Amino acid sequence: MLKFTKAVCRWIYLSLSRKGMKIKSASESRSPIKIGHRGAAGYCPENTFASFHRALLLGVDFLEMDVQMTKDGELVVIHDSTVNRTTNGKGKVKDLTLKEIKALDAGSWFDSRFSSEKIPSFGEFLDAFGGKVGILLEIKNPSLYPGIEEKIANELLKRGLTSLEGPQVIVQSFDQYSLKKFHQLVPSIQIGVLVKKITGKGISDQELVSFSSYASFVNPKITMVSKRLISRIHQHGFKTFIWTVKNRNEVDFLRHYHVEGLICDFPDFL
Ligand code: G3P
Ligand code: CA
Repeated sequence: MLKFTKAVCRWIYLSLSRKGMKIKSASESRSPIKIGHRGAAGYCPENTFASFHRALLLGVDFLEMDVQMTKDGELVVIHDSTVNRTTNGKGKVKDLTLKEIKALDAGSWFDSRFSSEKIPSFGEFLDAFGGKVGILLEIKNPSLYPGIEEKIANELLKRGLTSLEGPQVIVQSFDQYSLKKFHQLVPSIQIGVLVKKITGKGISDQELVSFSSYASFVNPKITMVSKRLISRIHQHGFKTFIWTVKNRNEVDFLRHYHVEGLICDFPDFL
């Protein structure tokens, strides 16, 4: 049984204040914040409650997750545009109703122990985790889902999750049009531009300048990362989260790069 000694109270206080913190720039903070990729995707079926709870147990500051939309206009938490890889069903998310999606087993593909896991609706996810831990929300394939930005904004607004108080919500995407639109809808939420380019092709100064009208983060794929790229991102006034860290060597290598956050499948490696 946990005794509320002075030391335990201090630990709880420090944990809660860290989870509610404003993200410090790498020059102000000694270590990057911990972001659980699709929860703790290395240990549990990605983007399920099992995965998000495991990530919390492993002490993440933020849960990274992906949002898409069903045929009947409901928001769901899933990475791929089809249910084929991560459930026992088949088909595109946009061609299935929420009821059909909820009938699927979203855990057995990973391990039979997770056979009761379902694809969470976005509302269920927010009710469980909103305001308790940071949320790094990726708008996935928004061009497939007209109006998805407004729906996401409404879900956040009605739960009071757009204020600057408490654990933050940050919205990211590869789709710059969608990010600009979201920024206009909810200017108080910080935006991250995801960037994935083949090795050797960096991010031009012109691109960095264009992101600065709406984004606060530029988040490159780990294979693109160099000290020069990180320093250019910082010089243009952005913070940066690197994705996706999958092993301890990558954590060690990135520690020298002074980035604000690491998005990891195994959050305990951080
Ligand atoms: O958070 C960044 C990362 O999740 C983007 O890639 O494919 O894992 O969604 P993906
Ligand atoms: Ca993602």
